[in-house]
Amino acid sequence: MKTTIRHIQQKKEQGEPIVMLTAYDYISAQLSARAGVDMLLVGDSLGMVIQGHKTTLPVTLEEMIYHTRAVVRGAPDTFIVADLPFMTYQISVQQALENAGRVMQETGAQAVKLEGGAHMAETVRRIVQVGIPVMGHIGLTPQSVNQLGGWRAQGRTSGEAEKLRVDAHSLAEAGAFAIVLELIPAELAAVLTAELSIPTIGIGAGPYCDGQVQVLHDILGLFESFQPKHARRYAELGHAIQEAVGQYCDDVRAHEFPTSEHAPHLSTDLAALYAPMPALAAQGTTNSENQDHYSQSKISVDQLNPSALRPALAE
Ligand code: KIV
Repeated sequence: MKTTIRHIQQKKEQGEPIVMLTAYDYISAQLSARAGVDMLLVGDSLGMVIQGHKTTLPVTLEEMIYHTRAVVRGAPDTFIVADLPFMTYQISVQQALENAGRVMQETGAQAVKLEGGAHMAETVRRIVQVGIPVMGHIGLTPQSVNQLGGWRAQGRTSGEAEKLRVDAHSLAEAGAFAIVLELIPAELAAVLTAELSIPTIGIGAGPYCDGQVQVLHDILGLFESFQPKHARRYAELGHAIQEAVGQYCDDVRAHEFPTSEHAPHLSTDLAALYAPMPALAAQGTTNSENQDHYSQSKISVDQLNPSALRPALAE
């Protein structure tokens, strides 16, 4: 059964934690859906973890649409939220409506997410009015990293905390179905979670939110040097991938891979046409299994008739 915003709301009402994770492609979406996440976020963090940019600012709407389509194909029954990237919704309500509409029409996502508090409330209200669920995002809003002066926690002074409170209430009042709270004090997140009737989804905002969201690459341990404090590494896939690829390099260079079982073969009656490759064998460039295979061939390379072999290979 497809998850909807009503299921997400029910989870808050029943005090059941909501689990959200980023996804950017078909297979990671499929695996995360099978593992049981409630919501997938096609975050514009893909600009950093997939594209290798230093910020999320270069991500385009076309790129978000491309990745969201792949995620929807991988997790057709999961609730999928797509980020509206930088400068695709801030210019005017009309721009936001057009682009939120494109994401919904062209991807199959169930909701969009946008960054910003009270100043975005009118935009949220209009998008929701046309039938598109909106997830808000306040606290450390990565699209404003330059204005915020870096990747810094927000809401640590009473003035900042009070502003975030106004932001959260404005978004809820405008009709947002949930709000991401990023890198804000756990105590403030607890207050907002208690005050708001819609779910709060925390990232670096402590344990008292209604749900949690993490960047997939962070929890899988794909980056060696970048280890955000708010993430727990549930695997060391960066290390595992590097080791596996290294093993592949070694095997190819040592002629340990591929072996004869990694290729199709001619049928037995045509096998006589399959010439050994004495030159390679003589150079000692085949592994033992390959050598066995070559030595079972019945004819020498001189006897090979390429025109006789060609039709057989074409079959
Ligand atoms: O883009 C993203 O992945 C996000 C999460 C960090 C909440 O916005």
